[in-house]
Amino acid sequence: TRVGVLISGTGTNLQALIEQAKCSSSSAEIVVVISNRPGVQGLKRASLAGIQTRVVDHKLYGSRAEFDGTIDRVLEEFGVELVCLAGFMRILTGTFVKKWTGKLLNIHPSLLPSFKGVNAQKQALQAGVRVTGCTVHFVAEEVDAGAIIVQEAVPVEVGDSEESLSDRIREAEHRAFPTAMELVASGAVQLREDRHIVWKQQS
Ligand code: GRF
Repeated sequence: TRVGVLISGTGTNLQALIEQAKCSSSSAEIVVVISNRPGVQGLKRASLAGIQTRVVDHKLYGSRAEFDGTIDRVLEEFGVELVCLAGFMRILTGTFVKKWTGKLLNIHPSLLPSFKGVNAQKQALQAGVRVTGCTVHFVAEEVDAGAIIVQEAVPVEVGDSEESLSDRIREAEHRAFPTAMELVASGAVQLREDRHIVWKQQS
């Protein structure tokens, strides 16, 4: 399966996906990495791995629709069949999400549906939960609300800061995202028309 990865920054999740796709048993081939910001470390990671990169700078577009349209064109140019949002910090329009439904994955640093939105790690600390985690889900039009594919629980330690907790969650992300990418790329998991998730072996 030809995979496109969208990033906005460091790209540690991208790095985990790159490592996964390198496995001979992987069903995924990352064919392009697109960043909405120029010069970020994630672009260097892609280049080092011999993966084509494109920058689609959202500041150069008058509307979300035009920005998303350009992203879509690049994905089509590379024949992408599955899109992974790896620390991609833009909200995609309904038109884009509708077109890529079932082929668009996102990672979120909490156990959805808890703590949707930005600073999920901070929300967990403020709520005083003892367990949080990360979620990889199909992107739906409502933000952070699509069908869940993989979750991993992460303990909150006494004295945790937003940074120490985020670091621990990120380690889990680097396991959860590659697993989810593989499940969807191999066809083991798919999204049914009614937005319900179907696990092949249980069909
Ligand atoms: C991660 O914390 C992820 O949960 C959030 O953005 C961050 C991405 O980090 N969506 P990186 O760019 O993959 O290192």
